[in-house]
Amino acid sequence: MLDEQPRSAARTRVGVLISGRGSNMVSLAEAARAADYPAEIALVVSNIPDVVGLERARGFGIATATVDHRAFGKDREAFERAVDAVLRENRIELVVLAGFMRILTPWFVQRWEGRMINIHPSLLPLFKGTHTHRQALEAGVTEHGCSVHFVVPELDAGPVILQAKVPVLPGDDEETLAQRVLVEEHKLYPAALAEVASGRAKLVGGVVERG
Ligand code: GRF
Repeated sequence: MLDEQPRSAARTRVGVLISGRGSNMVSLAEAARAADYPAEIALVVSNIPDVVGLERARGFGIATATVDHRAFGKDREAFERAVDAVLRENRIELVVLAGFMRILTPWFVQRWEGRMINIHPSLLPLFKGTHTHRQALEAGVTEHGCSVHFVVPELDAGPVILQAKVPVLPGDDEETLAQRVLVEEHKLYPAALAEVASGRAKLVGGVVERG
């Protein structure tokens, strides 16, 4: 079993998993440029080759890797063992999911429990799963937003670290609402990562303990 909690003294080595454009990864890489930021974005891994996010990561001088899930057919755990090996080879201490569109098995989640976070474009526990902006519009809510949470085996059910709210405005469609939420995501994720990487927010007994 890997070390329990990220060391708070040195900058925590972070591995970001992406599947596409990587705009959240970019907001984390920009935040990590600050000398006092408690995390270093040491690696970006994609399950799809040649996505824009990999190019953007290289633009920051960040190491990248591709583990193409299609090469593993239906064997999810074999794919995850390959991802896990790349993370360990790079001495990654904390995994950040940023637009990573693969559902992870309990094997991988338990291996990184307490050291893996995700951003979800809704105010959890509302609107789990996909098409969250459509769900919000169909529900007629007046407030929507995004959440950063610890990852647990149950999808989108991990304890929330931080959230940000936006208004739902008359005339909003999925695109306009998604854009408004994305602006908040790019501010929220660097703040939430700093909380975890510094040790100020920890997953203890299934809840977020703040210190
Ligand atoms: C974001 O809206 C995130 O909340 C969701 O997927 C989208 C990824 O965007 N999980 P990007 O790849 O970070 O630009």
